[in-house]
Amino acid sequence: MCGIIGYTGTQEASPFLLAGLKRLEYRGYDSAGIGVLNKEINIVRAQGPICELEKTLVKNTPDGSCGIAHTRWATHGVPSEANAHPHRDCSGDIAIIHNGIIENHLVLRRALTLRGHVFKSQTDSEVISHLLEETIADTDSLQDAFEQLLGQLTGAYGIVAMIKSSPGTLFVARMGSPIVLGRRDGDRFVCSDATAMADWVDDVIYLDDGERALLQPNNEPIIWTKESENISKQHHTISWDTSVASKKRYAHFMLKEMMEQPKVVEDTMRGRLIAQKGIAHFGGLEDVRERLREIDRLIIVACGTAYYAGCVGEYMLEHYAGIPVEVELASEFRYRHPVINRHTAVLAITQSGETADTLAAIREAKTQGALTLGIVNVPGSTIARETDAGIYTRAGSEIGVASTKAFITQVTALAMLTLFFGRDRNLEETEAIKIAKELELIPDKIESILKLRPQIKALADKYQWMQNAFFLGRTYQAPIAYEGALKLKEISLIHAEGYSAGELKHGPLALIDERFPSIVICPRDEVYEKTLSNIAEIKARKGPVIAITDIGNTDIVELVDDVIHIPSTHEMLSPLLTAIPTQLFAYEMSLLQGYDPDKPRNLAKSVTVE
Ligand code: AGP
Repeated sequence: MCGIIGYTGTQEASPFLLAGLKRLEYRGYDSAGIGVLNKEINIVRAQGPICELEKTLVKNTPDGSCGIAHTRWATHGVPSEANAHPHRDCSGDIAIIHNGIIENHLVLRRALTLRGHVFKSQTDSEVISHLLEETIADTDSLQDAFEQLLGQLTGAYGIVAMIKSSPGTLFVARMGSPIVLGRRDGDRFVCSDATAMADWVDDVIYLDDGERALLQPNNEPIIWTKESENISKQHHTISWDTSVASKKRYAHFMLKEMMEQPKVVEDTMRGRLIAQKGIAHFGGLEDVRERLREIDRLIIVACGTAYYAGCVGEYMLEHYAGIPVEVELASEFRYRHPVINRHTAVLAITQSGETADTLAAIREAKTQGALTLGIVNVPGSTIARETDAGIYTRAGSEIGVASTKAFITQVTALAMLTLFFGRDRNLEETEAIKIAKELELIPDKIESILKLRPQIKALADKYQWMQNAFFLGRTYQAPIAYEGALKLKEISLIHAEGYSAGELKHGPLALIDERFPSIVICPRDEVYEKTLSNIAEIKARKGPVIAITDIGNTDIVELVDDVIHIPSTHEMLSPLLTAIPTQLFAYEMSLLQGYDPDKPRNLAKSVTVE
């Protein structure tokens, strides 16, 4: 949420800043700006996506070798040029960029206004530059002034400040919003996301909450804690495949990421799944293996799509590993006073590893003595670092705001985790081998479903008039119904609801008529006949039905309006296949409605505010 980047070094700052913003655009795209210090601070900002800023920069690129840049996802104040960052103080000698929310901004703003400061934006962030103006006036050292500023802020922040009287220096602070420092030769970078500067740095330092840093060309960063203790931190070398951050030949990141799913499922399994024995190993869980044997309850915490992956995991882990599982929305977890003890493991599922709600849930679980685990995609992210142990999903960079390949790898990891727990508990070897061997076949089966794109596009064409839709499924397919509905609403802005098919008759059925289609996910599983009854209830009320079922299921053809046939698999693994047509359907529908599926309205990737 909001992307920030800063550069100080020996080269021109603007090209780095602009290129960095393009890579960070998925974090917010309602406005953007850059500020460069060269005797004076020059700021260029524009409303809209980065291409709007780029147009303005063509006419007026600020020169200088020290600068900051920001792409915004609005929290306080409408998307506009005035609300775009960087924000200045009254003198114009200070510029700041901020990711997060300053919770006490109203009180601070009122007090600053009374003391004569003039605000130019509606943002919470602007208080930072004005406060810094005051603390600098009252203090001899800029570092102390920066520290005094931070002492007055409540809330979450990743901040980078630039001060005219200290050319070449960037002042950086982290509290709740990710900040990574990078270096190559004499050049120094700061960014909200390591991948955005991956091409330009040799290694990175992850700042933790409460840490501050001062960056200058050629020098090691000065890093200190909020208790004013100077610290030195480890540099991490990470091997990035930067090609994943480009769309390649695809029209959208979302399309590219859907097409990558067969490969990323293989990556997730590689070196972990031993199909002939029906077991899964995770290097990242070895250290806590003994403690995991004592766990009698698993709580999964996650948000959005990752939460739905958790719901699939609940079915898998209870059914086949016999471990009691609860899945909780991370945003609710810590406020509802959960009962946790040493025998509880709390598992966070997250693509970004930075989602504020999920991070807060993990911290809460830790303070209550639970073992904390993560299924995380981004290496080195905060949740990956703060959990006791975990599994990387290896999906690579996911840039499309609508999560697709990350979801599929999360479910793959959960399937393997089921084998991992199950073989230590009561899962029979023969059943485990059956599951594991089927899991190995999943990439090829996903590949064959992706080839159905033309058929699914034709279906989207046929139903492009729809303004509402139900996604329905039972047991393993219920979470896929929720996820399918989320995908459709977030990128095509069509109202969609996901329900367990059995719930329809308890209320939502009232909405069904000939203008209200249902997408029913009904592989031939344990509850297939029951789902057919639910389909009959919809058809009796003239509701159009699109069914997603197994190849070879011809009986259903006459019961519904349209059918998407997909390969069969083990019941536990079926969500890995049934989710794919729902993703393709949402994508095609988004295009037909004239939207950019990579940049859904009002949304951003990595939700780093509560
Ligand atoms: C779904 O397409 C979304 N992008 C969203 O629901 C996302 O899954 C959620 O915000 C959680 O993000 P995380 O996996 O990075 O924690």
